[in-house]
Amino acid sequence: MNIAIFASGSGSNARKIMEYFQDDPDVRVALVVSNKKDAGVLDIAREHGIPTHIIDRKSFYDTQDLLGVLERYGVGFVVLAGFLWYVPAYLVQAFPGRMVNIHPALLPKYGGKGMFGRHVHEAVRAGGESVTGITVHLVNEHYDEGDILFQATCPVAPEDTPEDIARKVQQLEHRHFPAVIAGMLHAPAEPAPGKD
Ligand code: GRF
Repeated sequence: MNIAIFASGSGSNARKIMEYFQDDPDVRVALVVSNKKDAGVLDIAREHGIPTHIIDRKSFYDTQDLLGVLERYGVGFVVLAGFLWYVPAYLVQAFPGRMVNIHPALLPKYGGKGMFGRHVHEAVRAGGESVTGITVHLVNEHYDEGDILFQATCPVAPEDTPEDIARKVQQLEHRHFPAVIAGMLHAPAEPAPGKD
């Protein structure tokens, strides 16, 4: 199975995913897609010898050219790891049940438009939460609303700053995200109908 990682930022989750699957004979990170030419994730991809592809807003939203690129790399599964652009319907529909996102909070709380990065942890703190965490979910046409596949939690102390919360959440992401993806990719196939 060839996977593509879409990311806009520093790529620490992407790095963990690349490392996790490095020696897996069945799973290959075949491509990293980014909307930012100078995103840290691109350096990480190069370090691992993984091809990269930069998208621009116009072709991403007004054409389906990216599908051809993904096909060329044999991509069958897409991982959004800190990808900040809304995913258009044509792309979601090309990977039904095969596109996942990680969100740095416990959805359905603290999700939706504008809820990314520091904003999430500030809102968690302002909300007086004593627990936060991560959510891995399928991607559908609605921001942060696809089926939830996995959650893990960590405590929030009253004195925690948004940076403290970010650090705890990032640890959870790094510990769990690659394994959740592996669980999906290695899941046994559904038995053929009519056979018992
Ligand atoms: C992560 O917190 C992820 O949950 C969010 O964006 C962040 C990406 O961080 N969607 P990194 O680029 O993987 O370090």
